[in-house]
Amino acid sequence: MSQDNAKRLAAEAALAHVEPGMVLGLGTGSTAEHFLKALGRAIEGGLRVRGVPTSERTAHVAVQCAIPLAALDDVAEIDLTVDGADEIDPDLALIKGGGGALLREKIVAAASRRMIVIADRSKLVPRLGAFPLPVEVVPFGISATRRHLSALFAEEGLGTPSIAVRQGSGGHAFLTDGGHAILDCALGAIADPARLAARLSAVPGVVEHGLFIGLASLAILGGEAGHEIVSAVALPSA
Ligand code: A5P
Repeated sequence: MSQDNAKRLAAEAALAHVEPGMVLGLGTGSTAEHFLKALGRAIEGGLRVRGVPTSERTAHVAVQCAIPLAALDDVAEIDLTVDGADEIDPDLALIKGGGGALLREKIVAAASRRMIVIADRSKLVPRLGAFPLPVEVVPFGISATRRHLSALFAEEGLGTPSIAVRQGSGGHAFLTDGGHAILDCALGAIADPARLAARLSAVPGVVEHGLFIGLASLAILGGEAGHEIVSAVALPSA
């Protein structure tokens, strides 16, 4: 089974958690786009929901899928957010931001009653950190912020990891929907994600980081698993 097919299976399985009338947080990335397509088909079949997109890209695809949209500030609460991830650990702590949408993704997830993460099975890891951690930063003073992060990682016993300014098209630094830059931090293995998350949030110039802790309550992973099925792997607070 291809990785993309596994993502599609996970996305389609998440649809079973959607109920009529819900306000949904709509994630960003290739797995989330499979969910948007499945949701669009369900809406065409009569399901009534509204979606709050986590990026301009997702808003664009959602419109193509005829999903009614709402602004986060126009809804009292989001019932359920469905989003992808770059890494998922057994406690459902996540690394997100490979697509550069981590800030809006985290705001939407934190405003949601539940978050379901959808992915192919390769995203489940024993420990976070092989995927470079995206840290969204204000472009002003980016070199100083980078030095601050370097010192923080050394203090945390993470050595001297590469901290790369993410590149966009045309040789320019990638800019997020919020006009910020992304520093991709190749940490290797993160022993204490919650502690690192708290320390990163305190660095001047850091807008948000890609550690999502205590937000997802269910992971649906697509893969072969013997029967090419989609499995829920953990339910800490669902
Ligand atoms: C977007 O910023 C990310 O958080 C994505 O959710 C993550 O990179 C997963 O993307 P894929 O579904 O494309 O693997």
